[in-house]
Amino acid sequence: DRSSTVREGILVGCGNPLLDISASVPMDFLKKYEMNEDDAILAEERHMPIYRELVDGFQAEFLAGGSVQNSLRIAQWILGQPKVAVFFGCVGEDEYADILMEKARSAGLDVHYQIKKDVPTGTCAVLITGTHRSLCANLAAANNFTIDHLDQPHNKTLVENALYYYISGFFLTVNPPSIMQVAATALAKQRPFLMNLSAPFISQFYMAPLLAVMPYVDIIFGNEAEAHAFATAQGWPTEDLREIGKRLVALDKLNPARPRIAILTQGCDPVLLIQRDSVEEFPVTRLAVHEIVDTNGAGDAFVGGFLSQFVQGKSLDVCIRCGNYAAGHIIKNPGCTYTGEPQFVE
Ligand code: AP5
Ligand code: NA
Repeated sequence: DRSSTVREGILVGCGNPLLDISASVPMDFLKKYEMNEDDAILAEERHMPIYRELVDGFQAEFLAGGSVQNSLRIAQWILGQPKVAVFFGCVGEDEYADILMEKARSAGLDVHYQIKKDVPTGTCAVLITGTHRSLCANLAAANNFTIDHLDQPHNKTLVENALYYYISGFFLTVNPPSIMQVAATALAKQRPFLMNLSAPFISQFYMAPLLAVMPYVDIIFGNEAEAHAFATAQGWPTEDLREIGKRLVALDKLNPARPRIAILTQGCDPVLLIQRDSVEEFPVTRLAVHEIVDTNGAGDAFVGGFLSQFVQGKSLDVCIRCGNYAAGHIIKNPGCTYTGEPQFVE
């Protein structure tokens, strides 16, 4: 009995449902597309041949992806009770959508996709070079999400009935009005709204919508590179993650009764929990090199583990330790996938 206290639909997330097309590639492949080892970018016209090439030439694996959907699948796995988490995003009407739906549903996620006919389901190329992974997302149908999907009576009820909300920074490239609407609902009902910096390019190119939603954000997640990108885009004269975290939590906030929290991961270095006047560290159990399959999905799994405890009202300490547990597990598996039953002990 892992979670008898959580009710269905307590957590709502919005994001880009993407099918990951993952393969190990030589460095030359990255060079050819002018990509770096740890990129997370949006595909431009010149990247479009990547997906076909991965399938034809590199024995690519297809894995359910999309950052928020990954996190919610992991939360469901740990909770072991179906339909705690509800997911909204846009897919096409094709085989990839069927795969995503099947993976999400078998993980226990309550999926409510908006379906855009005539546009293919989004994909994300995951280019693995040793222990690095470079991501190139072709959002396709995911980019067609519209706010009227959230305004459908059934979906509206789902949003209103949730007690926790999680949206990625990635979704800022798709539909800021939907994000603002969910954030406003969270604020009006005094419920936590959680967000992720998601990738450096979000701070570089989508700072305006990110800053527009920030006053609603109760918990902000990010990794080192994302925190640094945010600081640089803000012109903050510091590279110190603790200082960046303090500045993140000090940004304007609409509900001062719930001061903002920043949670910054830094690979195998300790996770930083930054609150108004304090910075706490949570150690990460180092994995031996031979245990690491790929780190793809580590950040998403961290959030999933965190959410699985947060929706049960557990302390931040337990939430973060479960985040580290989930990330550690996912690293031992390809992409953002898990095996067996979760073994997290509070
Ligand atoms: P990706 O960015 O790979 O996933 P991630 O979950 O963010 O994983 P990273 O490896 O980047 O981790 P991180 O750097 O965030 O975290 P950190 O290393 O600090 O993206 C995966 C998904 O994104 C794909 O499925 C794709 O579909 C999706 N995606 C891409 N573009 C998108 C878009 N535009 N829209 C929507 N989705 C998109 O580590 C976090 C934690 O992991 C640590 O705190 C620790 O607990 C653990 N950890 C990390 N390294 C180690 C280690 N060496 N040993 C032990 N534990 C470790
Ligand atoms: Na993995």
